Amino acid sequence: MKVLVALLLLVQLLSCKALHLGPFHPLHPRVIDCDDPESEEAAAVALDYINAHHLHGYKYALNSIEKIQVLPRRPTGELFKLELDLLETVCHIVNPLPIENCTVRPLTDHVVEGDCDVKLLKLDGSFSVLSTKCHSTPDSAEDITQICADCPILALLNDTQVITAVDLALTQYNREQDGAYFKLLEIGRAQIQHFPDIVSVEFAVVATNCSAKDAQDHVDDCELLPKDLVQFGFCNAAILTKNNITVSCTVYEHQPGVTHHHLIHDHLGGQLPTMVQGFKHHDLRHFHHGSAHGTSESSSAEASVGLKPAIPVVKRDVGAVLDPASPRPPVGPGPKHPICPGRIRHFQV
Ligand SMILES: *[C@@H]1O[C@H](CO)[C@@H](O)[C@H](O)[C@H]1NC(C)=O
Ligand SMILES: *[C@@H]1O[C@H](CO)[C@@H](O)[C@H](O)[C@H]1NC(C)=O
Ligand SMILES: *[C@@H]1O[C@H](CO)[C@@H](O)[C@H](O)[C@H]1NC(C)=O
Ligand SMILES: *[C@@H]1O[C@H](CO)[C@@H](O)[C@H](O)[C@H]1NC(C)=O
Repeated sequence: MKVLVALLLLVQLLSCKALHLGPFHPLHPRVIDCDDPESEEAAAVALDYINAHHLHGYKYALNSIEKIQVLPRRPTGELFKLELDLLETVCHIVNPLPIENCTVRPLTDHVVEGDCDVKLLKLDGSFSVLSTKCHSTPDSAEDITQICADCPILALLNDTQVITAVDLALTQYNREQDGAYFKLLEIGRAQIQHFPDIVSVEFAVVATNCSAKDAQDHVDDCELLPKDLVQFGFCNAAILTKNNITVSCTVYEHQPGVTHHHLIHDHLGGQLPTMVQGFKHHDLRHFHHGSAHGTSESSSAEASVGLKPAIPVVKRDVGAVLDPASPRPPVGPGPKHPICPGRIRHFQV
């Protein structure tokens, strides 16, 4: 093993040397516009990656490409740096619909905006993601009231009224249907409207091995189905009073290989994960916390469980491109400027 590492280092050193000694060709950034098909292709690859690695809450759709920079990379390939504006969709991550089929939330539904800086490598015509840095924020309450005075705004995910509403809604759902007994997986979002008070909630659920009827007698014996049968669902509910609840759930077919292990790990056990305490949405930034800082228990769990397959790939690629020892292309304003930001696909927030 040691020998192999030493050998690899030597090869790397030699290849750097060779480059330094070679004839010097100044490499210039290539100018492409934000709405260029190539920019859009890069953005689509980045978006798929982001949605696959965002482990809580909803999938995001592309709203616009804000900036793009294309730098040559020695010895081959190009480095793409993009800044993307995203919008939350109505598809929770347990929803198997492809992102193209997911509806973006309308402005009246308290939108959540995502911002991502992404680096991709283009080699032999195909893109791979090197790194992403994202965060997301709900639109401000002032903006919402300007659009429509009566629109309910997002409530805290750990609000007592919200937790009670979800509990009542799921209990009613389990009572009214004769399929499997479902447990709560995650509260996705909640809005509270006043006069009359209506609590609207959205939450993801997971099936147990009990029928809803069995569960009435011995709920403690109900376990989640094994990995090869695991089944998820998603519910919308509006709670007016204890006796006036509308709830509708969609149960998705089991999808081979999709376990959402991190979601189950973080949420079952009844407690809300610390990362949503005091928040109104599931921030896109958490998937980076999971890999980099791991401050809370839940995010370190994510790092070890949810993100394992992705880390080595990302690290290795970043090292190869951003190695300080490798020559850097000159960066500076070229003679042409790209046309950016690009078009807005949905609406300006
Ligand atoms: C997604 O949308 C496309 C185009 O509208 C449609 O052809 C396809 O059937 C949809 N897929 C699903 C899973 O709904
Ligand atoms: C569910 O699984 C648990 C653990 O395997 C078992 O003890 C229980 O009897 C099962 N319940 C039903 C209804 O099959
Ligand atoms: C629930 O409340 C709505 C709105 O006030 C009302 O129209 C409906 O009849 C109520 N349903 C029940 C079952 O009480
Ligand atoms: C929600 O979480 C925040 C932050 O931890 C806390 O300050 C607040 O008291 C919590 N609210 C409820 C109702 O538990």
